[in-house]
Amino acid sequence: MQLPVRRATTDSSLIAGDRGYSAGSQARRLVLSFLCAVLISSTLSAHAANPSSTASQQGSRETGVIDPSLDARVESILRSMTLEEKVGQLVQYSAGQATGPGTGRTDYEDMIARGQIGSLFNVVDTPLVKQYQHIAVEKSRLHIPLLFGLDVIHGFRTEFPIPLGMASTWEPALVEKASHVAALEASAIGIRWTFSPMVDIARDARWGRMAESAGEDPYLGSAMAAAYVRGYQGPHLDAPDTMSACAKHFVGYGAVEAGRDYNTTEISEHTLREFYLPPFHAAVNAGAATLMSAFNSLNGVPATANPFTLTQVLRKEWGFKGLVVSDWNSVGELVPHGIAADDATAARKALLAGVDMDMVSSLYHDHLAQLVRSGAVPEARVDEGVRRVLRVKFALGLFEHPYVDEGRAQQAFFLPESLQLAQTIAERSLVLLKNAPADGKPLLPISKDVKKVAVIGPIADNPSDPEGTLFGSTAPKSGVLSFPAELARRLGENNVIRAKGVGVTKASNERIAEAVAVARGADLAILTLGESPDMSGEAASRSNLGLPGRQQQLLEAVVATGKPVVLILFSGRPLTVPWAVEHVPAILAAWLPGTAAGPALARTLFGESNPSGRLVVSWPRSVGQEPLYYNALNTGRPPDTVDLTQPPRDVPTRYVSRYIDEVNSPQFPFGYGASYTTYSYGQTQVNKSQLSAADLNQGLNGKGAASAVLIAEAEVSNTGSRAGEEIVQLYVRLQGTSTAQPRALERQQRVRGRTIQGDRLDQSGFRPRSGDRPGNRAIGSRGKSRRRRKKNISGPKARSHFNRLTARLKSCPSLFAAKSELIRSP
Ligand code: NOJ
Repeated sequence: MQLPVRRATTDSSLIAGDRGYSAGSQARRLVLSFLCAVLISSTLSAHAANPSSTASQQGSRETGVIDPSLDARVESILRSMTLEEKVGQLVQYSAGQATGPGTGRTDYEDMIARGQIGSLFNVVDTPLVKQYQHIAVEKSRLHIPLLFGLDVIHGFRTEFPIPLGMASTWEPALVEKASHVAALEASAIGIRWTFSPMVDIARDARWGRMAESAGEDPYLGSAMAAAYVRGYQGPHLDAPDTMSACAKHFVGYGAVEAGRDYNTTEISEHTLREFYLPPFHAAVNAGAATLMSAFNSLNGVPATANPFTLTQVLRKEWGFKGLVVSDWNSVGELVPHGIAADDATAARKALLAGVDMDMVSSLYHDHLAQLVRSGAVPEARVDEGVRRVLRVKFALGLFEHPYVDEGRAQQAFFLPESLQLAQTIAERSLVLLKNAPADGKPLLPISKDVKKVAVIGPIADNPSDPEGTLFGSTAPKSGVLSFPAELARRLGENNVIRAKGVGVTKASNERIAEAVAVARGADLAILTLGESPDMSGEAASRSNLGLPGRQQQLLEAVVATGKPVVLILFSGRPLTVPWAVEHVPAILAAWLPGTAAGPALARTLFGESNPSGRLVVSWPRSVGQEPLYYNALNTGRPPDTVDLTQPPRDVPTRYVSRYIDEVNSPQFPFGYGASYTTYSYGQTQVNKSQLSAADLNQGLNGKGAASAVLIAEAEVSNTGSRAGEEIVQLYVRLQGTSTAQPRALERQQRVRGRTIQGDRLDQSGFRPRSGDRPGNRAIGSRGKSRRRRKKNISGPKARSHFNRLTARLKSCPSLFAAKSELIRSP
């Protein structure tokens, strides 16, 4: 994709200071490079624009776990607890379908009655939830309710696209709404704690958990992290339809070596602070009640026993007041990690580092009381953990309302508005990778001349496949049609012919001939290929990123028929499909779209919805490029003008940062996504070309220097013949800093444009605001300052106004603060 580039430099000085670097005496100039990339839609979400602003607002309200009025109640209970009862609050088991090896124990009822369990998870049966809760509240000595948790990560009954797909909307406001629906549904069966959001930065598509992430960018990742937290927790955590969020996995898990799950990570403090920590910080600032420690070792110290991250950064620097739970048996895994010679040491190290609750390993249950009695662990540290657990329970209102109202489920599941939201998000998550002409015009949307389609491939064969298998997906039917059924509804049963062709992974090509015959009998072949849901997520790392099994052969055989082919890729990660990119005219990345996959895909293919999703991960050409991410440092030997499609032939073409057998660039870059319409950008205007280090440093100190605000504007025009949405992206690169800075996303804005040629003004795309009347719509953008430019438009003139939108993106000092820890006041 061509990104309009504007480089701006003036003589005023922009200075980066760092530890021991004097801004005054050793001035260096920072040159700001703005790369404003093309993309769409309507209003700028205030949340999206500035995740940290909402965060601090929430923080200042002192609600949820930081509510000071909880102190007295917590202390009152704590005073009456025995050591064993205290330890009990720090213990958690899985009492349902296991999501890891072993579940710790099975005698939960007795343990609950003795006050030895603080939380259970994976219990998804309402009567069982109630049964356990009754024991805790009525039979245990102190009547402390249990906290029930679950991995509710992209919806509960109503399934939204996997998080990677939701992030591809680039719309945190939608993610917030989806998370609210998830909380509404899951809380209706008594689940008040979700192990979500996963806010790990994911740069390596081999890592299966990229599917659960918001991608590779810390700015977008932070905006999404905060949106999830707000959606799950709502404005009042003690409302019955909320869940406490759990930002995971703290920290660095996304950097597992070679993309192999649970593997080691080595991340410098610089990279940790610049890239991996910001989404966690955003979640904390948004009020996340809990965090989960990660499996991986980080620079030699397992994240579950890492005092630097769990105590220094999280507690001392960020002031996190919530609860930290370990990951599944990650306390027990300190032994195989090699930093604990025995189980008791593992428990001691995890607790002292900052892990309050032990998920599944049972080592806190087995050893903590004894460790306290022997003096190896101060009781005060246990007390601290118990306070945090109790705070979460109080903040959720569990003491007042421990039992779920069983009638609520029927009023919470699959509400029409939830299903509509799932469809909207699914549509906006789809990324059109390619749409080349077939017979002179782009293949998509599907032409009215197409009467008969063949749907070929293993994925849509099982209509539930695209719904994802991450836990919570065993929902009863929602009444929403599957993709083939949606096609049949539009074209007629007899005009949709199905052929599986091959299995997802099975090495058998025996039905390819049948699929080819089916394609020959249709006007258009839609190939539904990719990964089954269990091929991404936890414990689903891949060393090859191509189409699994014999799908490539199936694809080539169908393309060889000469029939027009649309390829829909279902996956939890980008797939390396260079052959397809070369030979297939239309390719849509669908991720795993959730409950509304069927209508969302059909509406998109038929042009009722114009694809507007954008990649949040760089799409590789070959697996050897991984980890691949757009915000990599420039290196001292960037290839710049070297033609990387040719092997090196002399010194200038060889001694640069490159491969000798592959280009450096991704197949499709971060931020990319095509549309059924086209956009043009006017010149980017910036209010200043340089910022002074003094202003930036003031911003870092929280003083928010107005003079460090940067505004970039560009006029965006819809130059095609269809309505569509564009996501405008602002990239900034600081130069002259003491540590190298990459080009970094600083803002995004959806704008929605209207077609000039259309004869009908469709206003459905505009969200009415107060004061808006039909024919008098406001188009504007909102920056941090909350100033809003407004244009009133009506009648025929409206068309050109709708068609020309100004994207106004504002960057600010706090953002620079988040981006660069090392730019400090002298
Ligand atoms: C292990 C996963 O790493 C974590 O994300 C999940 O929340 C727990 N299992 C509980 O299922």
